[in-house]
Amino acid sequence: MEHFKIAVLAGDGIGPEIMAVAVAVLETAGKLDGLTFAFTEAPVGGAAIDATGEPLPAETLNLCQSSDAVFLGAVGGYQWDTLSSDKRPERALLGLRSALGLFANLRPATILPQLIDASTLKREVIEGVDILVVRELTGGIYFGQPKGIFPEKKGMRRGVNTMSYGEDEIERIGRVAFESARKRRGKLCSVDKANVLEVSQLWREGITKLANEYPDVELSHMYVDNCAMQLVRWPKQFDTIVTGNLFGDILSDEAAMLTGSIGMLPSASLGSSGPGLFEPVHGSAPDIAGQDKANPLAQILSGAMLLRFGINQPKTADRIEQAVLKVLDLGYRTGDLAAPGTQVIGCKQMGEQILAAL
Ligand code: IPM
Ligand code: MG
Repeated sequence: MEHFKIAVLAGDGIGPEIMAVAVAVLETAGKLDGLTFAFTEAPVGGAAIDATGEPLPAETLNLCQSSDAVFLGAVGGYQWDTLSSDKRPERALLGLRSALGLFANLRPATILPQLIDASTLKREVIEGVDILVVRELTGGIYFGQPKGIFPEKKGMRRGVNTMSYGEDEIERIGRVAFESARKRRGKLCSVDKANVLEVSQLWREGITKLANEYPDVELSHMYVDNCAMQLVRWPKQFDTIVTGNLFGDILSDEAAMLTGSIGMLPSASLGSSGPGLFEPVHGSAPDIAGQDKANPLAQILSGAMLLRFGINQPKTADRIEQAVLKVLDLGYRTGDLAAPGTQVIGCKQMGEQILAAL
């Protein structure tokens, strides 16, 4: 019997609905392999702002730090959109990432054969696509100094953010990417803007230097604008992509949409030690919150990533991934994936189907 402490931060919008389903799935799948979990809930994002005035209360962060893994739903909603940027729900994500040192964000985008018709792209373009975006998560323009809105002459103001990377930050994310590529198809594409930005020139140098240590991985480089284009033109050319925080934010959404619905995609954020954080790539979808319409599969698949990368239980992770495929094979879909010949069900029912498949 192995026991794990999991911090559950359901957050806002559809977060609580999809989290309830995913926690039940983890519990049931774990039981089959002799794993037990202590799930402890804590407020984050808008829910935490309403309860405590802070998007990431100290108690929530303490709980995360003393857990084996953090399972997060989604944060944000219209009612908090007018708050200043340091008080917004999204701050909680940035706070968690930096406090837990989660510098490596793994965002897989895999086309499931069952969902090919859900994509807006042609079948021949996306069939077989299997991409992993490795996004640097605690540096770059999200965290670089100086930042702020500063007064200028004549009553004008200037907004400033700084894109900066140190060689140590480039090396550690590079290593995660090379290691990941090695476990996949052995191809790594590093994405930057080295034709314009000095920070990218150093990035490219650092990644290139590392390549000597991974002779089995084939390294290429691509400018970010070209990559945005290539992702929709011929996505099958990519295996593993490594890039900085901002480029990774944008490209991972683009890669996600190749699969038809961002409602399918999980992510893992990892540091060099301590608990990892596992969350869907999609947001809180306030427009459908509370209506039992949300697709819980990204949250469930994030649970599988938690098992695989967070607490080293790959067998149970496989179980969950297989159950998801099986339910899709049976023709069940949430509304975001509706297609002719499929049966549209709600969030709770999707959860029940996954439990039955397990
Ligand atoms: C993401 C999100 C976040 C980010 C926002 C909500 C802060 O877009 O996880 O991709 O920009 O990193
Ligand atoms: Mg994003």
